Amino acid sequence: MEKIKVEICCGTACYLLGAAKLMNLEEHLHESLKDKVDIQARTCLGLCERENLGGAPFVMFNGTEIMSNASLEKVLDRLNLLIEGDK
Ligand code: FES
Repeated sequence: MEKIKVEICCGTACYLLGAAKLMNLEEHLHESLKDKVDIQARTCLGLCERENLGGAPFVMFNGTEIMSNASLEKVLDRLNLLIEGDK
């Protein structure tokens, strides 16, 4: 199974609106999931400038799926679904 890539935007807008907390994501991952997820911090993903995507902070999954208003809880829920869907 390929790792799920999670890019956390740490640009100014995202950082101020909660990305700092998201950077603790790995600590909140269940032990069995840690080797299945590749977490990366990114500079501005350019999403905060687009009007129709919702608000910061933004997280990108596998380079294509955008999550707006991301929180630790939302990201963990999404990861669980993505990993279960891969079984
Ligand atoms: S600061 Fe996060 S998308 Fe721009």
